[in-house]
Amino acid sequence: MCGIVAYVGHKEAYPIIIKGLKRLEYRGYDSSGVSIGDEDNISLLKQKGKVSDLEDYAIDKNTKGSIGIGHTRWATHGIPNQINSHPHNSGDGKLSLIHNGIIENYDSLKQVLIEKGHIFKSDTDTEVLVHLIEEIKNHEQVGLFEAVRLALNEVVGAYAIVVMEKGVNNEFIAARKGSPLVIGIGDGEYFVASDASPFIEYTKNVVYLEEGEIVKIHKDKMLEIISLTNSTKTPYIQELELTLESIEREGFDSFMLKEIFEQPKSVIDTLRGRISPKTKKITLGGILDYEQKIMNANRIIIVACGTSWHAGLIGEYLFEDLARISVEVEYASEFRYRNPIINEKDVVLAISQSGETADSLAALELAKEKGATLLGICNVVGSSIPRLTHAGSYTHAGPEIGVASTKAFSTQIIVLTLMAVKMAHKKGSITMSKYHEIINELELIPEKIEKILKKNDEIEKIAAKFKDATNFLYLGRGYNFPVALEGALKLKEISYIHAEGYPAAEMKHGPIALIDDEMPIVVIATKKGNYDKVVSNIQEVKARGGRLIAIVTEGDKTVKELADDCIEIPSCLEQLTPLLTNIPLQLLSYHIALMRGCNVDMPRNLAKSVTVE
Ligand code: M6R
Repeated sequence: MCGIVAYVGHKEAYPIIIKGLKRLEYRGYDSSGVSIGDEDNISLLKQKGKVSDLEDYAIDKNTKGSIGIGHTRWATHGIPNQINSHPHNSGDGKLSLIHNGIIENYDSLKQVLIEKGHIFKSDTDTEVLVHLIEEIKNHEQVGLFEAVRLALNEVVGAYAIVVMEKGVNNEFIAARKGSPLVIGIGDGEYFVASDASPFIEYTKNVVYLEEGEIVKIHKDKMLEIISLTNSTKTPYIQELELTLESIEREGFDSFMLKEIFEQPKSVIDTLRGRISPKTKKITLGGILDYEQKIMNANRIIIVACGTSWHAGLIGEYLFEDLARISVEVEYASEFRYRNPIINEKDVVLAISQSGETADSLAALELAKEKGATLLGICNVVGSSIPRLTHAGSYTHAGPEIGVASTKAFSTQIIVLTLMAVKMAHKKGSITMSKYHEIINELELIPEKIEKILKKNDEIEKIAAKFKDATNFLYLGRGYNFPVALEGALKLKEISYIHAEGYPAAEMKHGPIALIDDEMPIVVIATKKGNYDKVVSNIQEVKARGGRLIAIVTEGDKTVKELADDCIEIPSCLEQLTPLLTNIPLQLLSYHIALMRGCNVDMPRNLAKSVTVE
């Protein structure tokens, strides 16, 4: 949710931290701050707004020093203002701390600390934590490393933290539980961040801190890692594949547009090496040992949030239709609290771009306790979900930085299709000719997406006509019902227009009452699937004066006569249509949001990675 960057070494810390925070702004952007240590001093600089506001504020302040911690915030406790932004200092000003996550028992801890004489300045849970560390350090007469460990044993909740100490300019302490933290290892220098993007140009050698680990990071020494129970851990150093180019805008006006246009390439990357050019055999290395288990599963329970949940719904259609395996799709946030019936014959599949979504992780933890097999479909390599699950497949979409998910969605559908078709083939629930038809069509998807992207100007013109609407309705049936949901989510999150997605036939059971001659209705009416039924639904809309935007198959005549505007997509197999119908909806939302003056990459109130409940 929030972004963390810290540096200790021989370079100036401030510019490294500021650049890193800018890369992490997708995680939260309502305020930011840094603490920089130099000689016997810590300069604490914080500001409401974006990291650039912090830079302006810091322009005439002391930012010198080769150790520092920085934070970009997505507010949970306390409004976004200068006082509530991080870092937070201890009462004696000797400790400075940044935190991502939520300390659930902060209120009771705060009461105890107040009774002991602590005075708090902010409304945050984080300030309580730094006071708790200070209290333990002073009372128990222990060093910072031990004080952090003891304090974290009293904490309920999720955290990734970095704490530095005044006058100690060669080391700091970091810890994580429930929120990600990765350490970059340089030559006589270390970096700590929520993901590796802030330090990618400095080092490729990283250690992902594991759940409940605390680390002492000294610029000239090996990492010293311990658990909450004080057992020593050995750091596991990995090499990153991330490149600097992949996290830059490369000439596009926004990350969202770049990521929409990257989709043909992302789909190719997702498919790469997974379909044999000769035999057309599908190989998903990550689930190879679990294929039998999936095939014989009682049911697959898909848990996810937001866009990933929509991909999960498409997965349900694919698995049931092709592989005849029963699937349930659950909002992870609901699943974890409703005492679900799960057993060892169930496969629980989490879908997540970030691999760090708190609700999805908690749903998996619950399923693990009940003995289910855990699978993951994630984009971020080495993130928490892949590490928690027994097996899974990466989407290989490359870093997705725009808060609105685009290429992650397409590539999640690709992985789900590969999994479902693989299982269908193994079970013999589809014919060989159907198998080959799907594979052939799948391989054509990148060029078909490319063709749709060429309609960008046409879609921009349609967006101009509808940009002032206050409500939108999105309709689809079958495989394209989840696409209608996703289209509506995309529009509301980046343009702040109210939008609802609905199964087209369900419209007459309520939402039809909303339709008047002001209301734009986006209908997915491709030739395959329930085309005739969708045409009837379109007639119902038309009869009530609604303004229709239709996504149709090339050459369509019937819907074209009824709709105000049509966007054509190339013909393809019904099962694969979401991969195409989704693209014009992404572009439509993008242009409408832009025309309304919205920041498409950092929509208000949102954050890319939701690592809190
Ligand atoms: O990283 P995840 O896929 O687990 O994230 C889930 C949702 O938070 C995410 O899809 C969110 O809905 C996006 N902003 C949608 O564009």
